[in-house]
Amino acid sequence: MAEQKATNVTWHDGDVTREDRYEILRQKGATIWFTGLSGSGKSTIAVALERALFTMGKLSYRLDGDNVRLGINKNLGFSEEDRKENIRRIGEVAKLFGDAGTIALSSFISPYKGDRDEVRALHEAANLKFVEVYVDCSLAEAERRDPKGLYKKARAGEIKNFTGIDDPYEAPESPEIHLHTDRMTLEQEVQTILDYLLDNDIIPMHFFTRASDAA
Ligand code: ADX
Repeated sequence: MAEQKATNVTWHDGDVTREDRYEILRQKGATIWFTGLSGSGKSTIAVALERALFTMGKLSYRLDGDNVRLGINKNLGFSEEDRKENIRRIGEVAKLFGDAGTIALSSFISPYKGDRDEVRALHEAANLKFVEVYVDCSLAEAERRDPKGLYKKARAGEIKNFTGIDDPYEAPESPEIHLHTDRMTLEQEVQTILDYLLDNDIIPMHFFTRASDAA
């Protein structure tokens, strides 16, 4: 847990509630947290899921490792401490998106179980759903794909602390969703997540029919 540095600060509630926001958006906020090796397919699945949700009239927003590291987290590298801070900040940002009524699609390697569990606890304390999705891809397969040529560089010693090569990845033990990317198509992966969201009332069916539609 990060230390609270500022003193004499208190939370200030607004007049519009989270439920009010859910009502105008006709959805609930939540965080879908993709975790897995670099090159496992986290961002590809998030992009496809975002499109599928959009088609259903549901608002989601992608928070992606590379993108976020070019902006809000540009001052962080890949040491254990920096990865921890990367995940902590994104956990807080995802929580804000959820509170705003958006479905945050967060794709970060997030290699440490403890860091992911802290983000989960943060969401649970705020009464927001947290869906951990393990994008399971073997190191051999991620390295074969090597979409950014980074494994090759890491093997050549040009990148230090590369996850899976000379830095750890702690796989989730009981994620809400386990995607076996070696035996599933992208469509099946997206459908598995959508089914979970519908079955668990994260995209509640009653938000699909407006009172005015029924009249
Ligand atoms: S995390 O470990 O802190 O969750 P994050 O998902 O934000 O990582 O960023 C990972 C991305 O940064 C990778 O997909 C890759 O493109 C790039 N990258 C650069 N250096 C490293 C490294 N040492 N380890 C892992 N990824 C790296």
